[in-house]
Amino acid sequence: MTALALSGLDLLATAVVLVDRGLAVRYVNPAAENLFEISSKNVTGQALDKLFFESAVLTAAIGYARANNCSYTEHDLELGINGRPRLHLSCTVTPVELEHRGAQADALLLEFRLIEQQLRIAREQRMLEESRANRELIRNLAHEIKNPLGGIRGAAQLLDRELERPALHEYTQVIINEADRLQSLMDRLLTPHRMPQPARLSVHEVLERVRSLIAAEYPEGVVIHRDYDVSLPPVKGDKEQLIQAMLNVVRNAAQAVTGGAVPAPGKGEITLRTRVVRQVTLARRRHRHAIAVDVTDNGPGVPGELRERIFHPLVSGREGGSGLGLTLAQNFVNQHHGVISFESVPGDTTFTILLPADGDGNGK
Ligand SMILES: Nc1ncnc2c1ncn2[C@@H]1O[C@H](COP(=O)(O)OP(=O)(O)O)[C@@H](O)[C@H]1O
Ligand SMILES: [Mg+2]
Repeated sequence: MTALALSGLDLLATAVVLVDRGLAVRYVNPAAENLFEISSKNVTGQALDKLFFESAVLTAAIGYARANNCSYTEHDLELGINGRPRLHLSCTVTPVELEHRGAQADALLLEFRLIEQQLRIAREQRMLEESRANRELIRNLAHEIKNPLGGIRGAAQLLDRELERPALHEYTQVIINEADRLQSLMDRLLTPHRMPQPARLSVHEVLERVRSLIAAEYPEGVVIHRDYDVSLPPVKGDKEQLIQAMLNVVRNAAQAVTGGAVPAPGKGEITLRTRVVRQVTLARRRHRHAIAVDVTDNGPGVPGELRERIFHPLVSGREGGSGLGLTLAQNFVNQHHGVISFESVPGDTTFTILLPADGDGNGK
């Protein structure tokens, strides 16, 4: 618990409401007075659920923070106050200790931030449209790739029969296997409306496959750390799609840490981290439990000019890059009702994939 001095909260730009053990309002800072159009004098002593008309979501957030004695953020909170239009907010609830007449008393600090709802809806709309345009483009591309692929595979098979040195079969087999892999990928791209073939599976299984593939591709220059949450619930998903999605993200990380100048051996680091997250809205559906997969690398970071467009098809910062890796990853993750996002500064880039946990029943 944090010991808290009330002075100082006055200066915060974030709206802060402090409630005591019995959930009566003890203090409201000026930013909160502004946000909710209330006066500290009038609401001090009032019960919180009178002030915000019984918000079940807020009550749940408070309950969670209390039960676990930890800070908890609710990202999707709507609050109505005094008959005004409902505000769309995020709220962080933190248990604190207050000095009160020389004694310590438990209290809760509520920090509210306004979510620009209009902005949010517009952004979601734009992303949906973009993703539709992406699919169209990908379909066309996939058609173009499929045709020569058949030729490549056929020629490799003929070549395979003619080869005399057995050791050379290994090479033709690589061509054939990779052609098959591409072929099945293209088939999947050509049916973008095909729903994933869902099976209950462990994300760790998926990550382990990806890890071994990348470790084989980059035997030097990359260290892959694992930080897995052993209590991670399973997801319902299409294993091949999820492997492809994660592989694309992890491969980008490997390229980022080894790319450019001669890599310093052992300096490139990638961390695969899994965590359970609670109470999130993914693709407009509310989930009690979701799974977060973070892929962190210590490479140079996502170039500034790409940030807005990184998930668009054919956007690449690498020479010879297809610019399809993240587009595909996003498509597959979206088909699983998940979202993918990233944060990046030089030396610290994290791509996060959020997927609903299996059995969550698209929770309330
Ligand atoms: N972990 C990362 N660090 C830095 N840049 C990245 C990272 N992941 C992706 N990028 C940038 O995003 C671009 C697009 O990635 P992607 O869609 O996979 O296409 P491609 O890998 O074919 O270029 C990459 O070319 C790279 O410039
Ligand atoms: Mg890529």
